[in-house]
Amino acid sequence: MMIDADTNYFTEVNTRLSGADEHVRKEVMKHVDYLAQKAGTSSAKILSGVPFRAAYQVLSDCRQNVESVFREKMRGPVAISPDSVEKMIELAEKSLEGWCSTEKSMAIVKIINDIKPEICVEIGVYGGRSLIPAAAALRANGKGAIYGIETWRPDVATEHATNETNDEWWKKIDFHSIKSDFYRFVAEHDLASQVRLIEAPASSVSGLFDTIDYLHIDGGHSIYNAAEDVIHYSKKVRKGGAIIMDDANWPSTGPAIAILDSFCDRVQSFNDDKGVIACIIYRKR
Ligand SMILES: C[S@@+](CC[C@H](N)C(=O)[O-])C[C@H]1O[C@@H](n2cnc3c(N)ncnc32)[C@H](O)[C@@H]1O
Repeated sequence: MMIDADTNYFTEVNTRLSGADEHVRKEVMKHVDYLAQKAGTSSAKILSGVPFRAAYQVLSDCRQNVESVFREKMRGPVAISPDSVEKMIELAEKSLEGWCSTEKSMAIVKIINDIKPEICVEIGVYGGRSLIPAAAALRANGKGAIYGIETWRPDVATEHATNETNDEWWKKIDFHSIKSDFYRFVAEHDLASQVRLIEAPASSVSGLFDTIDYLHIDGGHSIYNAAEDVIHYSKKVRKGGAIIMDDANWPSTGPAIAILDSFCDRVQSFNDDKGVIACIIYRKR
């Protein structure tokens, strides 16, 4: 599947290369050259932010490989400490935007400890507050990766109406800095091996997955988006796999929840401050 490359990422790589040692530069350029060859463009164009398209897997591999080279470099003078899962949750709460409570983060960690997933998917990453606990738990397990599906684009976030206040709020968000903070956090805390980002509308990329072990649905909250995400993704979840449905207290997520209730069992839920169920954890029957 061909997708648009994240040009911001490659211009950031270019900036990072300007201060890098010669051998790091060479190693990174090997991966960028390979990508350029596969995408029918040049490394110079890629690094200067010229838009291009490439197969999802080729882009994803390039990014993983480039981050590994930078990480190896960082292991030299500044060793990355293997922070505990609890420490990662604390750091994410302090430095990233989002809405994941400590209670919900701990529940995410428990699911990942219990089911030891290989393939995790989170729709709606925003600042990474709920993705980071999952990634930290995967690292502690020593296996598995989480695919974050996010566009960081106001036009996509408001494509289908929810309510006026919410839609206006999303139009004013500085997605660029939220996304940069998230990527920096992943790199600085050595989570790049567990985190794969797919920058595309959720409805267009469900075909990338065959079997999902853990699914967190927290993307668009319109009636249309929430139901669409459930329909496209929950059928990929294996029997016994986990599905987290966030913002269950929104009237617009009601149809999505009715669909989930029809073929999954509720195993846990969290209430909002009015005592209404706001987040539901399901097990697929
Ligand atoms: C509620 S936020 C996610 C919060 C995050 N999971 C947390 O716990 O902090 C919803 C996110 O979904 C993204 N989003 C909305 N519609 C989307 C779509 N169709 N495809 C992908 N992402 C989408 C928005 O950009 C937004 O960042």
